[in-house]
Amino acid sequence: MNYIILASFFSLIFAEKSPRLKFTVQEPTRFHFTKPEYYMTLHHQEGSDVLYVGAQAVIYVLTFTSKGVKDIKIPVPADENAKEACLSRSNMPQMECDNFITVIQNVSDTFVVCGTNAGTAKCWLLVNGTVLTDVPNGQMTPSDISPSFPSQRSVSLSADGSLYSALSTVGQPGSIRRTFGSRKLLKTENKWLHNPQFAGAAMIPGSQKQKEEIYFFFSEINKTAGIDEQPYRARIGRVCMVDEGGIKTMLPDSWTTFLKARIMCGVGTTPQQYNNLRQAFVLTARERRTGVMYGLFSNAWDTTVVCAYSIEDIDQAFSTSRLKGYSNTLAGHRPGTCVLKNVTSSLTAKTLGVIKDHPEIEDVISPVGGEPLQLPTDDQFTQTAADTVLAVNDEHYSVLYLGTEKGKVLRVLHTIEEAFIISQYSLFHNEGPVTAMAIDSQKGYLYVGQAMEIQRLPLADCNRYRDTCRECILSRDPYCGWDLAKKKCTAIPAGYNITTGAIVQSLDQSNTSVCGEATALKVRSTSPKEVVVDSEGSVLLPCPVRSYHATYRWEKDNYIKHYSCSISRGFCVLAPSPDQPLREGVFRCMALENGYKEEVVSYRLVYNGGPLPASFGSTLAPSLLLAAATLWLM
Ligand SMILES: *[C@@H]1O[C@H](CO)[C@@H](O)[C@H](O)[C@H]1NC(C)=O
Ligand SMILES: *[C@@H]1O[C@H](CO)[C@@H](O)[C@H](O)[C@H]1NC(C)=O
Ligand SMILES: *[C@@H]1O[C@H](CO)[C@@H](O)[C@H](O)[C@H]1NC(C)=O
Ligand SMILES: *[C@@H]1O[C@H](CO)[C@@H](O)[C@H](O)[C@H]1NC(C)=O
Ligand SMILES: *[C@@H]1O[C@H](CO)[C@@H](O)[C@H](O)[C@H]1NC(C)=O
Ligand SMILES: *[C@@H]1O[C@H](CO)[C@@H](O)[C@H](O)[C@H]1NC(C)=O
Repeated sequence: MNYIILASFFSLIFAEKSPRLKFTVQEPTRFHFTKPEYYMTLHHQEGSDVLYVGAQAVIYVLTFTSKGVKDIKIPVPADENAKEACLSRSNMPQMECDNFITVIQNVSDTFVVCGTNAGTAKCWLLVNGTVLTDVPNGQMTPSDISPSFPSQRSVSLSADGSLYSALSTVGQPGSIRRTFGSRKLLKTENKWLHNPQFAGAAMIPGSQKQKEEIYFFFSEINKTAGIDEQPYRARIGRVCMVDEGGIKTMLPDSWTTFLKARIMCGVGTTPQQYNNLRQAFVLTARERRTGVMYGLFSNAWDTTVVCAYSIEDIDQAFSTSRLKGYSNTLAGHRPGTCVLKNVTSSLTAKTLGVIKDHPEIEDVISPVGGEPLQLPTDDQFTQTAADTVLAVNDEHYSVLYLGTEKGKVLRVLHTIEEAFIISQYSLFHNEGPVTAMAIDSQKGYLYVGQAMEIQRLPLADCNRYRDTCRECILSRDPYCGWDLAKKKCTAIPAGYNITTGAIVQSLDQSNTSVCGEATALKVRSTSPKEVVVDSEGSVLLPCPVRSYHATYRWEKDNYIKHYSCSISRGFCVLAPSPDQPLREGVFRCMALENGYKEEVVSYRLVYNGGPLPASFGSTLAPSLLLAAATLWLM
């Protein structure tokens, strides 16, 4: 008896650990590559249906429709000479001796495309959507924009008519530069960055245009760190968009507003820290200087976690902290403040000297809540994106999308109190890692890439929560609410009027009382499916698992008899056993969640022959058992 109690206790814990719902997507809005694309770079203009995918010696221009994906392939081969030279050098990664597209950016309607070109980076302009042309002489320095090999991480960002590029260290020092556009081209000093590995970049809007900044996210690696020391340090670096460089004698072609800070992701000041920042995504609130940065971090054992940071906190640290290694007071112009050059008369050689020698602030930036998000899952994350959703209570909710090593996508509701895994999507035919994601909040889609496939997923996916108010509310999906008038789980329409609308939600504590008392308490019943068993056969009763946060059990004879079942691969299967033979009658599978009980499925077992062989179920191989379960459901 103790054993059974223990077992059910563990299955409860296990259920709480998983995403609440699990979906397998089979919609046709996907594109299959003809060869695996292990490196890809995405470009998507919000509001359009077109996705540019830069891959190995090709750019795919994909147009998504509800019926499928139309594609145009633009070949971008590597120069023959470059390829030969690359292949002839033994210290080159031979697999990477091709033209991997690393940059596709729309800089004020000029489409800049750059690739590794077999070890000697090269750029093109993409004209009329599909025609590649050479860049006029002297307009660009490709080696500042694209790495020479695809395994070398780089980040590019187009903002206000300029292209910003960050290259990680491999063979050359890493850099953050303005590389193309109407403004003066600038760079970082070599000593400002120590072996950076870039993880993302974002434009942060300011109260005034001149306060706009670009944030870069990266990890620095200390190659001489001892074995007992952490070699990684996670960093945020930032520059002002109005920066025009220093004076002739000091920092003439370098940023005068660059500053960097250390960011921590771990539990307080305990040794349990995640120092390697692998990917970052910024959710900016339009106009206001608020927002959230989500960072994907790993530790030495490759365990991944997500930490969230307030942009306000980061900004506060940059504008008030002391500079590392500088103890004098900062009279006049404070390093890192954005001002137009014609008013920074204080940009003297002396001030610039301070800027040059002290690029780091002392304050360390801590995550919101002081620790990583509590995501009860064992998944290893590879990609992140986020969206902010206006709910019917007129509050904004953050939804985080996490791509995993096994090709899944998790949809997570992130509130001040908690992170709640709404659902897990299985999107791909194989289990390879998610390698790229792009989100279109305006049109409401998430693009997800993997080596063999790319597809898009609607952000508001309310039909999946079925046709009951209870299911709709329990989903806690801020995109969806229960329309009391239409009796449907529906996406919150744009411009929804809270005072006149009839859509209900309960995002903070999933309280189904918003559905009305009667609906909330009524136990839905199902009409039993007849199952006839002969003397030779046995029976397995499958109950499809909807919510992994519910507990499932079988009930018989007007709920007098109870049978437990354990969840395996999407079903709670009831099988006969020596101490639990299944006799004739109606079996009902009940799900219990948040204090509410629901009947999922029911069977009327009719038996024509002798007594059932009691040991049958326990001797069946698990795969056979599930095959039987799947069959029964059809
Ligand atoms: C390029 O960006 C501009 C805004 O900077 C936008 O108006 C235009 O539609 C974009 N072009 C494409 C093809 O996405
Ligand atoms: C782009 O389209 C315009 C107008 O259709 C045409 O004049 C121009 O030659 C095209 N450019 C290229 C490079 O094909
Ligand atoms: C790297 O680690 C070594 C050993 O702890 C230390 O002496 C050195 O200052 C570190 N370098 C940087 C750039 O932090
Ligand atoms: C500085 O330059 C900007 C445009 O670049 C101009 O709008 C502003 O009036 C100038 N300010 C001064 C003090 O000259
Ligand atoms: C919502 O509807 C009410 C009543 O019709 C109206 O007074 C109010 O202006 C509407 N609010 C918005 C934001 O449209
Ligand atoms: C649900 O909401 C109702 C009405 O606001 C409240 O009375 C009830 O206590 C809530 N239940 C839970 C579990 O929070």
